[in-house]
Amino acid sequence: MKRLIVVSNRVTPSDEGNASAGGLAVAVLAALKQRGGLWFGWNGETCQGTDPNPEIVKAGSLTFATLPMPEPDFDLYYNGYANRSLWPLFHYRTDLAFFDHNFFEAYLRINGLFATKLLPFLQEDDLIWIHDYHLIPMGQHLRDAGMKQPIGFFLHTPFPAMEILLTLPNHKSLIKSLCAYDLVGFQSTSDLRAFHDYIIHEAGGEIFESGVVRAFGRTTLARVFAISIDTKTIAQQSIRAIRTKAVNRLSKSLNERVLVIGVDRLDYSKGLAQRFRGYERLLKHYPENLNQVVFLQIAPPSRTEVPEYVDIRHELETLAGNINGYFAEFDWIPVRYLNKGYTMQRLAGFYRIGRVGLVTPLRDGMNLVAKEFVAAQNPADPGVLVLSRFAGAAQELTEALIVNPFDVDDLSNAIQRAITMPLEERRKRWGAMMETLKKNDIFSWRDSFLSELEKAPATLEGA
Ligand code: UDP
Ligand code: G6P
Repeated sequence: MKRLIVVSNRVTPSDEGNASAGGLAVAVLAALKQRGGLWFGWNGETCQGTDPNPEIVKAGSLTFATLPMPEPDFDLYYNGYANRSLWPLFHYRTDLAFFDHNFFEAYLRINGLFATKLLPFLQEDDLIWIHDYHLIPMGQHLRDAGMKQPIGFFLHTPFPAMEILLTLPNHKSLIKSLCAYDLVGFQSTSDLRAFHDYIIHEAGGEIFESGVVRAFGRTTLARVFAISIDTKTIAQQSIRAIRTKAVNRLSKSLNERVLVIGVDRLDYSKGLAQRFRGYERLLKHYPENLNQVVFLQIAPPSRTEVPEYVDIRHELETLAGNINGYFAEFDWIPVRYLNKGYTMQRLAGFYRIGRVGLVTPLRDGMNLVAKEFVAAQNPADPGVLVLSRFAGAAQELTEALIVNPFDVDDLSNAIQRAITMPLEERRKRWGAMMETLKKNDIFSWRDSFLSELEKAPATLEGA
């Protein structure tokens, strides 16, 4: 088996369940733990000077090599290009996207720095797998440095429709660098379709039946690999978790009321404001739920230095306050809104006692919470997943109640339908989704990407 080198901006050290690190770190850690390899990335800190050195930590078959990022490039790269330009744009929020050429230059410099610092670790027969929008040009930097190993890239976010992408000032340079990889993986067929669209209509390239793409004088293979979860482990964790003190406390505090649960990084892409309004409408239109339902929204703060994240936080505080102020009784608070994160072990128990899981992003690459909620259910009495059609997960979890998160009435009606759904229907829907998740778990995602990556150079040569 070839040695695997994984690179991502965010890295989660193995012994620490970072409760708000997001889907990439959760999934990559699960994928790597079993297989082993080197995980290279940012250590979460900044430094003076421009030449930081990676720190190496070994944990079983996994080695972590992490480095701090030089100020002030870090700010321009992370709070700037990555999270004020690419993130909003890739999530279809052109209204929130902000462009500055200094952002892009710092982004290129940090990608160059990552490549330079990775070089000493590389051996001839490694497989290199780079992750997410922070590091799109990194593969090009490695190629320019003469690296010949197969290099793959996986995009955890959506790939936006062409007309959206065209609003990015440097789109051509960015997508050209994406085509420097041997293999590019997307979350869903709609992302791949959007990429193809750009290649044909903007780059004047070609797409072949094999999945090979030719553009900018380069050839790459582009495929869909839907990321997933460690289904079996989460199901087991949820059984253990319901016997813990924390889950018992939550259960007792509900006092027989129905639990509706949402778990999301505090991000405008998650549709939290619309979700709160949908819940408010439920209480108005279906008053039988008054004092009978509790909505628990876990929302650990994320990217707190980016202004748009400060704004969404304020908006949600106001909304939660208004709903509680209007509906609460002396013995009932309708919304429990928490700006803190919990470990997976705890979440698994919370999901299990949830009757309704609300996963209603306005746009999401995949959304692992949707899959985790399903995996954590009690087969004898499963809860119901209400899922946005704009989450990648909706393409697989078709037995969820699929909603349009922009439609507040659709949201409130779906929550009501979930609360009142008969046991037999709940079992049937859950059973079908669980079958999918057993088959398509994190290990099958990893293995299918890596086996394609190993074959990619030969496939491209034959193209
Ligand atoms: N998560 C967590 N603790 C929290 C909130 C979230 O461990 O308090 C995890 C969650 O279980 C999931 C990931 O963070 O594995 C979020 O991934 P998802 O794909 O849903 O969204 P992302 O944050 O990547 O946009
Ligand atoms: C999403 C992104 C990841 C990112 C995570 C958390 O999952 O796809 O690349 O790591 O959010 O965001 P953060 O900015 O804290 O790394």
